[in-house]
Amino acid sequence: MDKLIIEGGRRLEGTVAISGAKNAVLPVLAATLLTSGRNKISGVPRVRDVFTMIRLLGELGARLESFEGDTLVIDTSGVNNPEAPYELVSTMRASCLVLGPLLARLGQARVSLPGGCAIGARPMDLHIKGLQAMGAEIELVQGYIHGTAEKGLKGDHIYFDTVTVTGTANLMMAAALADGETILENAAREPEIIFLADVLGRAGAKIEGQGSDVIIIQGATALKPIECRIFPDRIEAGTFMIAAAITGGDVEITNCIPHHLESLIHKLREAGIQVEPGDNSLRVKGQDRFRSIDIKTQPHPGFPTDLQAQTMALMTLAEGQSIIVENVFENRFMHAAELMRMGAEIFLDGHTAIVKGVARLSGAPLMATDLRASASLVLAALAAKGESVISRVYHIDRGYEGIEKKLVQMGASIRRVK
Ligand code: EPZ
Repeated sequence: MDKLIIEGGRRLEGTVAISGAKNAVLPVLAATLLTSGRNKISGVPRVRDVFTMIRLLGELGARLESFEGDTLVIDTSGVNNPEAPYELVSTMRASCLVLGPLLARLGQARVSLPGGCAIGARPMDLHIKGLQAMGAEIELVQGYIHGTAEKGLKGDHIYFDTVTVTGTANLMMAAALADGETILENAAREPEIIFLADVLGRAGAKIEGQGSDVIIIQGATALKPIECRIFPDRIEAGTFMIAAAITGGDVEITNCIPHHLESLIHKLREAGIQVEPGDNSLRVKGQDRFRSIDIKTQPHPGFPTDLQAQTMALMTLAEGQSIIVENVFENRFMHAAELMRMGAEIFLDGHTAIVKGVARLSGAPLMATDLRASASLVLAALAAKGESVISRVYHIDRGYEGIEKKLVQMGASIRRVK
């Protein structure tokens, strides 16, 4: 179990380049199951979740031909096994993204229910309801979703009670090979959904409306192998923007898409942090003193829940009191207890956290619980006085490629110990 040892109190300076978006590459990897041939994907981040998804695709019969640098080639002509096993799915909820493609490709799927994780129950009822509407027979057998669609899937008009990102992705992929037209109402509008729709479109699916809350898909009889370059990770970029702000540093974040970060840019400016967007870069200048702000997490284009923990870390050092409302997940304040051990003053009440800014945090031994919570502990440790030791960093390796190398490059004192 690796640990990260951080000596806080150093301002971050210099530049950092952002890696490909984890939550864009995972659905695209699942979408390769819809094709039968050599799929070539570049801009792929070397993060744990990508390797987990590659292993899962291998279980299903796909073959990884090469993964050099940021480009991988995966041959899906041999996909023949409909079963995604519990031991893989339980480590990564995004494995659920193979459900729609397997039903569309093989006419059957057996995918373990992901089970809960630190941030919530993570149900799949909306995925299942949508696939049933498209003609799949689905039953739950010993913790597995057993789906069959012998006569193939049929397009339908589907309404999502709640905006679900992977639910939208799953049904869009299933619809891409279904018979007829599918309409997805109250669909997710995340950039990762737009990207997936565009990639499927280039493979032969007819999709329109992506980016709005109504997506219309005309099913095709077959799709061509996927070729694409994954765009930069907006959550990694946002995490480093907050790293610059919390250390009072001056950082140029390159290879990023400022348009994907509008909500964070506005909130940081509201706090008095200087943010200067370039074409594909962002300059962030921290201040020694900055104001508290209030945030409410929402589906895109609202404030992203995946940046909530990192923003809370920043607000522990703001002047005044911040109110943070987590509207997307039911239990996403796990980082608060650890931040309080560093001297933060946080009052939790259900979906609301009230953060009273303090003058300083002090380093401490810390425990990561989930991917973005561990990122928030790294940020707090960078600003804290003294040394912090963060254990269970496998959480952070799921979604950040070489985080300590990138931070060292900006002047942080951080090292990984086995
Ligand atoms: C995706 O998860 C992301 N993961 C998450 O990022 C992100 O936090 C989340 O979207 C919200 O933006 C990937 O894209 C791989 P949801 P997802 O379905 O799709 C409820 C990270 O840190 N819901 O949009 O699983 C659900 O309980 C991860 O990179 C149902 O009730 O999230 C939640 O409260 C963490 N029934 C809300 O919807 C369903 O069938 C939004 O969840 C599905 C979801």
